[in-house]
Amino acid sequence: METISFFDGRKIPLERHKVRIVQQLNLLPVEERLARIQEASSNLYLLRNKDIFLDMLTDSGVNAMSDRQQAAMLQADDAYAGSESFFRLERTVRDIFGMEHFLPAHQGRGCEKILADLLVKPGDIVPMNYHFTTTRAHIERCGGEVIELLIPEGLKCQSDYPFKGNLDTDALAAFLAEKADRVPFVRLEAGTNLIGGQPFSFANLRETARICRQYDVLLILDASLLQDNLYFLKMKDEDCRDLSLREIMRAVADQCDIIYFSARKLGFARGGGICMRESELVDPLKELVVLNEGFLTYGGMSVREIEAIAVGLEETLDLAVTSQGPEFIAYMVDELEKRGVPVVTPAGGLGCHLDASRFVPHIPQEEYPAAALAAALYIAGSIRGMERGTLSENRDADGNETLAEMELLRLAVPRRVFTKSQIDYAVDRVTWLYENRDLIGGLRFEHEPKILRFFLGRLAPLSDWQEKLAAKFAGDLPGSL
Ligand code: F0G
Repeated sequence: METISFFDGRKIPLERHKVRIVQQLNLLPVEERLARIQEASSNLYLLRNKDIFLDMLTDSGVNAMSDRQQAAMLQADDAYAGSESFFRLERTVRDIFGMEHFLPAHQGRGCEKILADLLVKPGDIVPMNYHFTTTRAHIERCGGEVIELLIPEGLKCQSDYPFKGNLDTDALAAFLAEKADRVPFVRLEAGTNLIGGQPFSFANLRETARICRQYDVLLILDASLLQDNLYFLKMKDEDCRDLSLREIMRAVADQCDIIYFSARKLGFARGGGICMRESELVDPLKELVVLNEGFLTYGGMSVREIEAIAVGLEETLDLAVTSQGPEFIAYMVDELEKRGVPVVTPAGGLGCHLDASRFVPHIPQEEYPAAALAAALYIAGSIRGMERGTLSENRDADGNETLAEMELLRLAVPRRVFTKSQIDYAVDRVTWLYENRDLIGGLRFEHEPKILRFFLGRLAPLSDWQEKLAAKFAGDLPGSL
């Protein structure tokens, strides 16, 4: 709907904004890229931003801000307690979600920590459509366990099913019939991150909520990627087609008991928070906010960011803003598919996801194919993606690898940051890499942290494949960076 048709028949994701502040980018020659990735131990988190041309690591905290957000930041009310900026955000959140309480946190995982501290005890099980790394880490830290009840279609990389983030509601009902006493809450994630930014449908949310009510179990929505899910509900869901984004947002919230979000994503700034109705959980959660995050009127956020989030949440309800992410992603996915590159379909939110299990099928999961592909793409194009595969998993209690269900390289498309020619550049470099995929080899750990090992782990290539890849690039594109 928002995509523009050209006279020549092409459909183009036309930018509905103009660029008024820019940041210069470096594009290092391939020999230097090789040196930088080796210094960073093949872990792209350990690169320096100045050495990256297209940073497609994440959209978290790096969506472009609007002029109105920047303007709001200048008028922030700096106070430890009782800041007017906080009350402005609280009003916006109440208005959008229709929930009475808003508890601020410094970012999404701050919300996850205090929710897990209050609600999860040893032996508990938390059903969800799919886990997110930090969410699961906090539930397990409190002695709980995560069970994933995603519909089977959700794990198929190639599909045309529009709602791959749906929770298997029959499985949920059967699970709760047996074990509801061990379930502190059910968690549904909007725009399901680790399976390729895939949305749930409204009917699925409604049925999940009905089952939760039947068993008197809380339904908690992780709304960090709700902006993408809203877009897909509007565009693809019969139940929502005739509603405005604001109406869809409210209809979604009406089904949930608690909503939390990373405002590094939802709200296009940096922060987070928990929205909830009146209940006996409000006071104990407030105490945990004060203990862990900061006073109740800032929760670890700067007041400037609080102002920016209030404006950003309103802007999320504008389809011309919200559509830009998924439509750029759909363009990138289509262009790669045309060139035969294996990508997750249908295109979701957050980013374009390369399917490493088909891109580099010769690399076994124990050699981290998606992480190897990430290092290779930095060498090929100075592009930083994020591994979402076995490297992002934890070892089991006996120290064995837990093989991921999907081996993905996520190329995030933060909103309003990249131009279409930069996306075309990424498509070109990914395509070159696909043509040369046989040169890519595996990785092994040299230093492996115990928790969330993908952030700080140090790896090494299993051969001199990185040198060979760089040499092939220099030979194929002489004179080009
Ligand atoms: N939930 C979801 C669905 C997320 O995607 C994230 C973060 C969090 C919670 C945690 O929020 O980072 O503000 O503490 N996702 C980022 C990403 C890190 O790159 O996908 P946070």
